[in-house]
Amino acid sequence: MTNSFTNASAKDVGTAWLGGEFAGKLVVGNWKMNGLATDAKALVQALVAQGAGDKSLAPQGQAGVQLAICPPFTLLNPVRQWLGAAPLWLGAQDCHAEEKGAFTGNISAAMLRDAGCQLCILGHSERRQAGESSSQIAEKLAAALRHQLIPILCIGETLAERQAGQTLAVLAEQLASSLPFPLAGSGGSSATPAPIVVAYEPVWAIGTGLSATLDQIAEVHQFLRQQTAALGHVPLLYGGSVKASNAAEIMALGDVDGVLVGGASLNAEEFWQIAVAASTVLAGRSVSTAAA
Ligand code: PGA
Repeated sequence: MTNSFTNASAKDVGTAWLGGEFAGKLVVGNWKMNGLATDAKALVQALVAQGAGDKSLAPQGQAGVQLAICPPFTLLNPVRQWLGAAPLWLGAQDCHAEEKGAFTGNISAAMLRDAGCQLCILGHSERRQAGESSSQIAEKLAAALRHQLIPILCIGETLAERQAGQTLAVLAEQLASSLPFPLAGSGGSSATPAPIVVAYEPVWAIGTGLSATLDQIAEVHQFLRQQTAALGHVPLLYGGSVKASNAAEIMALGDVDGVLVGGASLNAEEFWQIAVAASTVLAGRSVSTAAA
């Protein structure tokens, strides 16, 4: 039986998998500031146990489902151990732009890589609201890339910006100013393809239970696909009140390459069902491709 948690090579695929022709789904759990050792261990063990059961995901690789969890810094090392050989990726929720030094309380990208991370969420709106600027995020993103961490750059509009009809302009500005390189070279030439992931997370949909509508997500993701075209195929995630009951319809949208999940990632069964939804969407897509 093939399942997502028995493919030991998946952790090595990393950057190459995302830098190539990505046709899979990336399902990332952002635990935020949640998790003490006992509960977190139970959660990870339940997740691994799900993967070892009958419900298998699509085969790993460019066209499969890749699961990732981003616990708080204190749990990175234990989570890595609890995961064992399970090919979930490990991610952090932030990093510092500098390599090392007198930055009390901060964690560098090199430290995250050393702790076994493949991913790093950057520019989450909860950090932007706490005062983080796009230029700081761009420096962090450069640091993540220097250390072979795949950055998940979060962008999103507030409710007031959406109501004022500024959504796409706000996203274009956040995207361009949060990257440490131009989106397109001068004279219209292509920028260097970079192994980054972009997550569209409308601020008003985060933790509210109120997901963006499918039309809203489709419009934004189509826009972001165009905006990032010069960087190669940048996996585009949606985040904001994703749960098992809406994950499939969101991931069935053409330009949605996966989801960034907050609250629902703290429940192993719920998170697993989101992974299953990703797998179902991919299976449906390959059935219709084969039938065409
Ligand atoms: P939520 O959070 O799923 O709880 O809305 C998403 C996020 O902030 O990444």
